[in-house]
Amino acid sequence: MADYHLEASWSPVEGSPGRLTLTLFNLSPEPLSGFSLAYTSPTRVADTYVCHGASLTRQVANFHEFQPPEGLSIAPGGHWRFTVEGLADEPKHRTDGIRSARLTLDDGRRVAIGFGDLMLESRDGGVSPPLLPPGRVDEPYALLPWPLSLALKAGNLPVVLYPAERTRPDTIKALSLVLALYQRLYPADDAPFSLVAVKGGRAIRFVTESSIAAFAYELRFSAHEVVLSSADAAGRQYGLISLAQLLHGARADRERFQFPNFGTIADQPRHEWRGCHLDVSGRFYPVADVMRLIDILAWNKLNIFHWHLTDDEAWRLEIKAYPQLTETGAQRGPDGALMPEFSDGSEASAGHYTQDDVRRIVAHAGFLHVEVLPEIDIPGHSAAALSALPDLADRQEPPGSYRSPQGYANNALNPAVEFTYEFLGKVFDEMAALFPSAYVHIGGDEVAHEAWRSSPACKVLMKREKLAGTAELQSYFLKRIRTMLSKRGRKLAGWNEVSHGGGVDRDGTLLMAWERPELGIELAEDGYDVVMTPGQAYYLDMAQAQAWSEPGASWAGFTPPERTYAYEAEAELPEALKGKMRGIQACIWSGNIASRAQFNRLVFPRLPAIAEAAWTPLARKDWDRFAAIVRMWPML
Ligand code: ACM
Repeated sequence: MADYHLEASWSPVEGSPGRLTLTLFNLSPEPLSGFSLAYTSPTRVADTYVCHGASLTRQVANFHEFQPPEGLSIAPGGHWRFTVEGLADEPKHRTDGIRSARLTLDDGRRVAIGFGDLMLESRDGGVSPPLLPPGRVDEPYALLPWPLSLALKAGNLPVVLYPAERTRPDTIKALSLVLALYQRLYPADDAPFSLVAVKGGRAIRFVTESSIAAFAYELRFSAHEVVLSSADAAGRQYGLISLAQLLHGARADRERFQFPNFGTIADQPRHEWRGCHLDVSGRFYPVADVMRLIDILAWNKLNIFHWHLTDDEAWRLEIKAYPQLTETGAQRGPDGALMPEFSDGSEASAGHYTQDDVRRIVAHAGFLHVEVLPEIDIPGHSAAALSALPDLADRQEPPGSYRSPQGYANNALNPAVEFTYEFLGKVFDEMAALFPSAYVHIGGDEVAHEAWRSSPACKVLMKREKLAGTAELQSYFLKRIRTMLSKRGRKLAGWNEVSHGGGVDRDGTLLMAWERPELGIELAEDGYDVVMTPGQAYYLDMAQAQAWSEPGASWAGFTPPERTYAYEAEAELPEALKGKMRGIQACIWSGNIASRAQFNRLVFPRLPAIAEAAWTPLARKDWDRFAAIVRMWPML
């Protein structure tokens, strides 16, 4: 039970992002005086603001610290109220208020404070419509993503499926792997497969068929066996997952779903790149959670796990050459180099992945035909790295000479500091040894417009290299990064801003269009390979309805699951450029996620919706069928 409680409410003010009112309740038996109050909130105080009843003493991104007026004492049961006008953005949802809060008492002790949702003063916030209808199926098969083509007749439900006699050991191993996947996802349910023949079960006969496309599979059903044909191990695995899904649906909802005993499924993915990104910087996910998310990706036939390992808020990847990165750069707390952010509690928070953790995760993903795409977000979003390794900064650059969109001062690696490249060289060496992926994602997003302009070292570099400003400095930096990756046999992937200021060599470079869908066209026209990750459809941190009560972020609007499902990235591109589009990807930014429950509320069912859009051709998409099946699908 917290002895103190902080309430925040917001009211609109004509011509501005409005006013926050904060009220601290003293629920303790003692008077409260000589304290300071700190909280984190995505509704940041702007550079120019007016605060009545308190003074803002410190702010780093969404961390704020306030001092009450001199001599203030709050009696037991009493409260203290102050207001702030001058906010960086207008809040849109109840989750835009306090995310964590703490008091520093007069004896130096820190105590956590309870807090509630951001309350809306003086207007109705509306109500959310239902986000997922009950659903309806025309064909009684629980397959998600839905296959390319299917012509089936339903029949008796086999008790289990087992490998036919003389199945090769590697194929039995593949079956046991999908069985283990199923058991992790549905630990309370009956196993779909057995390695031995069982009465009442049905045999699976495996056929290697080189005429079938890569990643594709065919299932032929009869009353006595199922024939699974594929050209490769990935196709075989997708076929086995389809069989497990069919059996799961037929057992879990007998009213709606059945198992086929006649006919064919011929299936293959629509897009080669079917990704899901996870930001582990804003919030740390233990290894078991990362593994489980990868299990969920595999179940939904997604094949890329884009692991956003570093950001302003933390550097999560162990680098042996620079242990400070995770010793200092993955620790947040009131006494650390990094302030508490988002939903950090009153204690310090920490977490990183050791190289052994990474090897385990990459191996786990590999078994499931999921490729891990590692990201270190540079040159922007580097506050954590810069706080761990201060030599990365140009010490002559005035502090606070620019601020990132999230409010971090001077948070970009400096292209004119040679140590930047020495540092990144060692980081890339270790990453190349850990991650077998063809690409390394280097971020490239949201470098502040004013970045580096006050850095004397950058001024010299700009003159020497005839670079006009921030964007051209960024391009200079990224070209060197691209060369460094090439030397290590890796291609460059990045966010859409990599193209700014002249960009980098297009050959083999893959960019993710996140800010607006139209950027995908511009990037493809410019010669880049493109993955579509528009915030307006595929950012799973966005709220799912306009209502104030709906949790989530709002910079890209709100995205109901049906809109995510219906969104057609391919429709953005003219026919001639479609070949440049490699696929689509969900992005899970973690600033809005304080718990597993909130993760599940935001991520599902939109993640399986993207999985179906990534796999199933437009003509076969069906929102009602999706809604009927997805309610049986696993969450984190
Ligand atoms: C991004 O959302 N900054 C890529």
